[in-house]
Amino acid sequence: MARYGVLGDIHGNREALEAVLRALDERGVRQFLCVGDVVGYNADPDECVELLRGRRVATIAGNHDLISQRRLDFSRCSTIAEYALRRTRRTLGSDAAAWLAGLPDHVFPEPHVVLVHGGVRDVQLYMVTPALVAENAKFLAEDHPGARICFFGHSHEQRVYEVNGDAVTEVPTDGQVLLRKENTYFINPGSVDASRKNRHKFAECALFDSAFGTIEFLSVRYDAAATEAKAAAFGYRISPLTDRLYKLRRRTASAARRLAARRPAAADRGR
Ligand SMILES: [Fe+2]
Ligand SMILES: [Fe+2]
Repeated sequence: MARYGVLGDIHGNREALEAVLRALDERGVRQFLCVGDVVGYNADPDECVELLRGRRVATIAGNHDLISQRRLDFSRCSTIAEYALRRTRRTLGSDAAAWLAGLPDHVFPEPHVVLVHGGVRDVQLYMVTPALVAENAKFLAEDHPGARICFFGHSHEQRVYEVNGDAVTEVPTDGQVLLRKENTYFINPGSVDASRKNRHKFAECALFDSAFGTIEFLSVRYDAAATEAKAAAFGYRISPLTDRLYKLRRRTASAARRLAARRPAAADRGR
C-alpha cells in the first residue's frame, strides 16, 4: 500500500515531465508508475528516460516506445508521429534505447493493480468508449484475474471508468474519486505531454492512494513554448510538404499490399 504518482504519454517532453514531478514532490509522493509512451513527438527522449530511471519509475512500453525500438511498425500511427519517431530513432542514445527495449508490456505494482498502455490486449487501442471498456473488463478478468484497478494511457485524456457487472459508468475526474472495492476501474492519468492538444497546454498526471482507494487528478502549467521551439529546431515537426509525401507513400504501400493479397486468389482461379 502506497501513494503513487501515475503518469504517462510523456513523449520526450522534458519541461512537462519536470513540472509534474515537481508537483508530485510537493505532495510528498515517493513512488511512481508510468503507463508508457516515454518518447515520440518531442526533442528530449534521453532526458525523459534519465528522469524516469533516476526515480526508479515502474514503466511499461507504449506504442511509441515499441516503434522507437523497431518492435512495432508505423502502420497504426499518424504521419506526424512517424516523422518524430524516425527522428527519435536517429538521436536516441544507446543507454536510453537499451532501457526502452527492456520495458515490459504490463506491470503489477500491487496484486490488484495493473498498468497497460492502450487496451488490455492491444497496445494501440484507444479505450475511449464504455463499450470498449466493457470488452476490456472481460479481457482483464480473463488475463489478469484479481486485478481490479487498471491504469491505461494512449488516449491522452484524464478518465475514470467504473465497471459494475455489465454496466460501465464514466466518473467525473474533478475532485477526489473514491474507488469502491466491489467495482473494477479503468483509469487514465492523462498526458504529461500537451504538445498535441489545442484546448490547453497543461501537463497531467494522477495521484493514487492504494491504502485509501482514492485517485486525484493534477494539471500543471509548464513551458510549452520552450518545448515546441526545441521540437521545431531539432527536426521533430513534419513540414506540410513532407506530410503529403508520407501520406502518398502510405497510400502507395497499402495499394501494393491490396494488390498482392488479390494475386494468389486470382492465380487459384486460373488453375
Ligand atoms: Fe501517447
Ligand atoms: Fe500511445
